[in-house]
Amino acid sequence: MRILALESSCDESAVAVYDDAAGLLAHQIYSQIDLHRVYGGVVPELASRDHVRRLLPLVSAAMKDAETESGDLHGVAYTAGPGLIGALLTGAALGRSLAYAWQVPAVAVHHLEGHLLAPLLEAVPPPFPHVALLVSGGHTMLIDVAAPGRYAVLGETRDDAAGEAFDKSAKLLGLPYPGGPELAALAEKGKVGRFEFPRPMLDRAGLEFSFSGLKTAVSLAVKDRAGGAPASLDAATRADIAAGVQEAIVETLTAKTLRALEQTGYDALVVAGGVGANRALREQLNAACAKRGVRVHYPELHLCTDNGAMIAMAAAMRLQAGMQSPTERYAFDVKPRWPLSSLTEASPAA
Ligand code: KG4
Ligand code: ZN
Repeated sequence: MRILALESSCDESAVAVYDDAAGLLAHQIYSQIDLHRVYGGVVPELASRDHVRRLLPLVSAAMKDAETESGDLHGVAYTAGPGLIGALLTGAALGRSLAYAWQVPAVAVHHLEGHLLAPLLEAVPPPFPHVALLVSGGHTMLIDVAAPGRYAVLGETRDDAAGEAFDKSAKLLGLPYPGGPELAALAEKGKVGRFEFPRPMLDRAGLEFSFSGLKTAVSLAVKDRAGGAPASLDAATRADIAAGVQEAIVETLTAKTLRALEQTGYDALVVAGGVGANRALREQLNAACAKRGVRVHYPELHLCTDNGAMIAMAAAMRLQAGMQSPTERYAFDVKPRWPLSSLTEASPAA
């Protein structure tokens, strides 16, 4: 089975061709970071317009790389949500049009299911059931993954997502957008321990997170030392604040993840989403899980952040289970909000 997949839920235009026998044949990403940087965040209307410009050339390039003709495809997948509505519509319109023209099923994919199933592309795929820590710019969740498509949310953030906490703290430190990876790089040069930032909800039972207090604490730290102007911070202080922020986020994520593993009794963990690329998070999770005999599965670094390969993988699981989207011509089923737990199981055998 061979799938062409499009991802356009936010600020990455991405396309991939995946074959369930041969693996990932091609994947292409165009990041809109430069377009949005001057605004300090994603501007939805600009994102949609740029997806319209980028997606079709990316499709041509990916099909060429994969030496694939339209007649070789068994489906065209696209991210139907959650995400920015205009951005989602561009991928849905193109995906459904290509599927209609080529007379193959169109498959509407849940973006978070894509992130969750991305590790299935690796040489050693995760077993089911497992716990998943999904940490991205918009979501922070611990999930009981019983089977592909069967997701029970064990706990999530009450306010900011972990990626958002990285991004907002980075902005307060005067780092360019998108701040997460910038803050992580700066934290490598800093000292942990000089700045102690809050770890909300850590002392409480349960698997919920709250990261919104972190930005207040960081903003106070910057104000105390530089009157609120990050440019006046000396380099060492700035790096030490970054290290403190990263430590607070990583420690909270690690502690709650261990709790989820204990609660479920599972011995496998999947870490998915953009923040899963964070080196400190990987180190702490790996060390803690190794002690407990838990195996940790990550997607390759470049498949942690948004990409088309994960959408293709999720679509392949769903197509194999006979779950294509309705093919009515105008059924543009995008869902800017779409609870993960509303999905049904992908594999009839599971
Ligand atoms: O999964 P993703 O690409 O997009 C969403 O679906 O949100 O995640 C993007 C998020 C951003 O908040 C970004 O700052 C964060 O992941 N991120 C990181 C790192 N790489 C990406 N955060 C911390 N450390 C990193 N190395
Ligand atoms: Zn994402």
